[in-house]
Order: sequence, then C-alpha cells, then structure tokens
Amino acid sequence: MQVLKGKAVADQIYTTLEVESATVHDLLRRPPCLAVLLVGDDPASASYVASKQRACERLGIDHRDYHLPADTTEAALLARIEALNTDDQVDGILVQLPLPEQINEETIIGAIKAAKDVDGFHPYNVGSLLIGMPTFVSCTPLGILAMLDYYEIATSGKHVVIIGRSNIVGKPLAALLMQKGRDATVTVAHSRTNDLASLTRSADILIVAIGRAGFVTADMVGEGAIVIDVGINRVADASTKRGYRIVGDVAYEEVAPKCKAITPVPGGVGVMTIAMLMHNTIASAKRTDN
Ligand code: GUN
Repeated sequence: MQVLKGKAVADQIYTTLEVESATVHDLLRRPPCLAVLLVGDDPASASYVASKQRACERLGIDHRDYHLPADTTEAALLARIEALNTDDQVDGILVQLPLPEQINEETIIGAIKAAKDVDGFHPYNVGSLLIGMPTFVSCTPLGILAMLDYYEIATSGKHVVIIGRSNIVGKPLAALLMQKGRDATVTVAHSRTNDLASLTRSADILIVAIGRAGFVTADMVGEGAIVIDVGINRVADASTKRGYRIVGDVAYEEVAPKCKAITPVPGGVGVMTIAMLMHNTIASAKRTDN
C-alpha cells in the first residue's frame, strides 16, 4: 500500500511557480496580485484565507485582503467586487465560501469577472470546462489531477467513482476525468445513490468529497483500489491543543490495508488546492484580457 502524500507534489509545483511568478513580475513590472474577500468570522474559512496569504508570500504574489463584517449586505459585496473587476492591478478575485445567509452565492460568483475568477466557479468557466475548453478550473479538482500525474496513476479506461456532486469538487472533477486524454469512465454518486457500497466496490479509483468524517468504510472499497480522500472535517478532540483534529471522509485505518494507494488526511489533497490557486493566479496575470 502506497501513501500518496501531497507535500512532495505541492513542493514541485511551488518550485515551478516561483520561477513563473518572477517572470510575470518582470514582464508586468509588478507582482501578480490576488484579492481575497472574507465575509464574517467562520474559523475554518479564516484559517484557509491565512494559508492562501502565506502561499502568496512564498511566491512573491501580492495579496489584497478584505475582511468584511458578517452583516455585510449583498450590495456592498457586489460594489467591492465591481471595483476589483475594473482594477487592472488585480489579476485574481476570490470570495471565500460559504457566505452569510443574506448574500446569494450564485449572484456573487456570477458578478466576478470571468477572466479574474481564479476559483473557476463562474458559469462561463464551468461551461468552458464542460465543453473541453477549460479556462480557470476549480482548484481542488486540478490538484487531484496533479497528484494523479505525479504518482503516475493512469485514468484511461478506469472506472472512477466520485462520491459527492458539489460545484466545487464533484462536478468539475467528473468533467475533467471524462475528457479526452483522461478517458476515465466516471460515476458520480451522492447521498441518494442506491446501494452505494456495491457501486464504490467496483471503483478502480474512488474519490470521496462528501464532507462527512469517516464516511467510507472498509466494506465500501474493493481490494487494490486507489482512494483519494478530499474531506477536511474537524472533529472534537480534547487531547489536542486546539480542541479538535482534522480527519477525512475515509475511515483511513480500516480502509488503507485494502488499497493499492491512498491519500492521508491531513497531508494529502489539502495542500494541493492552494498550490493550484497560486497556479491560476499566475496564469491570470499572464493573460492580457484583465
Ligand atoms: N470554500 C471551500 N472551498 C473553497 C474554495 O476552493 N474556494 C473558495 N472561494 N471558497 C471555498
């Protein structure tokens, strides 16, 4: 059984991105620039935003951070986005999700200029991906592909089962894997799927992005499967300093012995998401339509 660690993959990507960031800096006579908008005080979101800032600093990417109060109106957030859309010093705009309930997520995502949508959530970018002309692609799916490539895991002709149909992971990942060149046969399962365990047992590659701690148990995994765990769940743990620990969507201890390869949590897919966000930000800075 092979443990597919994310750090080695991310380190390799960061090495390439350091050079690219410096090249773009020379070309533009300014660093690439990412605007990050956080509304409210969700602790997990705040911690993701802090990691994004650290990654920018590692690569010499400028970051503009907007921490708005939890009662920010949709109109106020839209006005902020519009100002960033038209600011030619800003290459990428990211609005951390989830948003407070008074703000409609679709409205906000649709308001971000597609050419600055480094999250790849805008309908234009999602549609482009679906027809095989990807522009900005959602970062976690991109990170998963980068891991498969690094560990030389071929997907051609393989049955890939994805558990979870989110716009951020499940749907874009399915679109990427079914594309020519990746050539996987993809099944997207979700909370309403009948007899989930017999479906997931038939997977050559099982990718789990459902957001439930320990959801996938040993009986759901075939011998010799490759398991990619996208879950990042906080579970209470009084023995830790923070009072919680991070676990994946897969019950790792019981599932790992059955696998040919598996990603750990933490230490697996997690670090890849931000690496690919940096990739998208530098790619955006290289574009001339901003
Ligand atoms: N919330 C959870 N994942 C993501 C992500 O990839 N991007 C943004 N903007 N918010 C998120």
